[in-house]
Amino acid sequence: TKAATDAIPVKTPTLPDAQTVTAVRHWTDRLFSFRVTRPQSLRFRSGEFVMIGLLGDNGKPLLRAYSIASPAWDDELEFYSIKVQDGPLTSKLQHIQPGDQIILRPKPVGTLVHDALLPGKRIWFFATGTGFAPFASLLREPETYENYEEVIVTHTCRDVAELEYGRQLIEELKADEMMQELIGTENLNKIRYYPTTTREQSPKMGRITNLLQDGTVFADLGIPPISPESDRAMVCGSLSFNQDIKQILEDFDLVEGANSDPQHYVVEKAFVG
Ligand code: A2P
Repeated sequence: TKAATDAIPVKTPTLPDAQTVTAVRHWTDRLFSFRVTRPQSLRFRSGEFVMIGLLGDNGKPLLRAYSIASPAWDDELEFYSIKVQDGPLTSKLQHIQPGDQIILRPKPVGTLVHDALLPGKRIWFFATGTGFAPFASLLREPETYENYEEVIVTHTCRDVAELEYGRQLIEELKADEMMQELIGTENLNKIRYYPTTTREQSPKMGRITNLLQDGTVFADLGIPPISPESDRAMVCGSLSFNQDIKQILEDFDLVEGANSDPQHYVVEKAFVG
């Protein structure tokens, strides 16, 4: 009867591994970033990823791999995501608001970590699109600057608006007093930012792969070509980008490393869809 059902207390479903959204920012109609509370027990190395998501319509968690864009020392966790209008997760995730909950499995993993690289003079971060995320973490990580004399950040996007998250992050990082104290102003000056666009006019046009192959990058930065003696690289982008840049790095005689076998470069696929 009606009276009997009313008497049953409604149990609000509690998400497993729930975290609360604290901020959301939309960059373009294809890109957004957000911050969530950090589980107290979560330890990770800058550059690693975790599984995050929402409850699907069937009541089961719908999870995808996301690089943590915030550094290991931050109180909160930041993520940078694409919005795919018919994507199972991102079609919903793009609507989150501060105060909402998401699911976050506290098991960080990944290869884009300093432990997977041998010491070197120069570190290259090669990103396309949302592949910038792990580098947003590593650029705020003091170890990046302790290990290298130069930190070269390349980011290739279709248009100028898609570069904005990375551009602003680097600009604010350099101007932030807390960062200057934590990392050192001289160390922050080690960053060399090299953004390129492929479908809209900007100061540097073209895929980074082509600009490496024809030597443009080295001429622009005034540095010698990549070599296994001095250069280390981390790569994060689409599957085809990762394959192409891997080939280029191998042509420069760099060897792929792993956590268990540190070498000259490491690769991770950016979350897509
Ligand atoms: P392009 O416009 O020539 O495809 P997307 O938005 O599709 O994920 O791509 C992000 C950026 O990465 C675009 O500028 C795209 O260039 C570039 N890109 C895609 N595939 C490759 C690749 N195999 N090598 C280099 N750049 C790539």
